[in-house]
Amino acid sequence: MASDDAAISTNDDASQCKRYAVEKGYWTDPYISLLTGRPTNIHTPEINRGYYARVKGIRLLLEQFLRTTKCECQVINLGAGFDTTFWLLKDQGLAPKCFVDIDFPTVTSKKCHFIKSRKSLLQKVINKGIDIKIDKYDLHGSNYHLVGANLRNLNELDSKLSICGVDRNLPTIFLAECVLIYMEVKHSSALLQWITDNFMSAFFINYEQVHMNDKFGQIMIDNLKARQCSLPGVMACINVKSQTERFLNTGWQYADIIEMNHVYECLPQADVQRIENLEFLDERELLDQLLAHYCIGYAYKDPNSIGFHKINFSP
Ligand SMILES: C[S@@+](CC[C@H](N)C(=O)[O-])C[C@H]1O[C@@H](n2cnc3c(N)ncnc32)[C@H](O)[C@@H]1O
Repeated sequence: MASDDAAISTNDDASQCKRYAVEKGYWTDPYISLLTGRPTNIHTPEINRGYYARVKGIRLLLEQFLRTTKCECQVINLGAGFDTTFWLLKDQGLAPKCFVDIDFPTVTSKKCHFIKSRKSLLQKVINKGIDIKIDKYDLHGSNYHLVGANLRNLNELDSKLSICGVDRNLPTIFLAECVLIYMEVKHSSALLQWITDNFMSAFFINYEQVHMNDKFGQIMIDNLKARQCSLPGVMACINVKSQTERFLNTGWQYADIIEMNHVYECLPQADVQRIENLEFLDERELLDQLLAHYCIGYAYKDPNSIGFHKINFSP
C-alpha cells in the first residue's frame, strides 16, 4: 500500500534528523549513527531544537515511569523505527524487564540487520549464555524484542506480544512517537482501546501534531502531501480537546495534552541554555509556531494505585 510506504519512509527522516542533532551536540546518543547514515542536507536550528524538545520531553516522562515502577515494568515502543531508547536505558541502568520495539516488517528487517552486524548494538541485547533468536523480521534477545507487525492488525499485534513474553499484569508503558497520525482514527482508537482492555496497569506517551486546522497546520499538511505522505489520522490532531478525547473515549482513566512550547519550558533549564548556545536562532517566532503545533499527550489507567498520577511535566 502506497501510504504505508510513505509512513515507513518517515522513519528515515526522523532518524536522520536525530543523528544530525546528536552530531551538533543537542544530546548524546552513541547508537543512532549505527542505524542511520549521515544526513546529506543542512537542518535548521528550529528543527534541531524541536527534536531536542521531543526527545527530552518523552524521556522525562519515561524515566519517571521507570523509577515509579523500579524498572519492574515493560516498555512497548509502537512504530519504533530506528529508535535507540532501549540501548540508552541499558547504559543508564534503567532497562525494564522487557522492552519491545514494533514497526512494519520492512523497518524491523533493516533494524534486525543493523543489530546483528554492529557489535555495540548486539552485545546489549544478549545475556551471557543465552542465545538470541533472530529471523528476517523479528529478534528476541534477553530483555529486548524487535517485532514486525502492522499496528492496525490487533490479532497480529496480540500474538507477537505473546511471543515476546509480554505480561499483561505487569505495569506497561506504550510509546508512540509520531506514529498514530499515520493511521486512520478508527485504527488508532481500536489500538488504544485494545491496550486498556488487555493491560492491567498502563501508561501511554504520544508525541504528535496538534492544532492542525489552523494556517500553519495546513502548511504542514500540504508540505507532507507534496512528498506523497498523507496524514490519515489528522482528525485526532485538530486541537487539545480531540487529542484528550481519543484517550478518554478508549478506556483511559486520565489524559493530559501538553503543547511543546510548554514542554520546552519544563525541561531542565541549564541544559536548555546549553543547547540554545549551540546554534544561532534567527527567528524565534518560527520555533514558537513549530512547537505550538506538536504536543506530548499522556494517559494512564492505574487501578492498583502504583502512583502514575505523580508522573507529569511539573518543573
Ligand atoms: C515518523 S516515524 C517515527 C519513528 C520513531 N518512533 C521515532 O520517532 O524516531 C513513524 C514510524 O511509524 C511506523 N508506522 C506507521 N504506521 C504503522 C503501522 N500501522 N504499523 C507499524 N508501524 C507503523 C512507520 O513505519 C515509521 O517507522
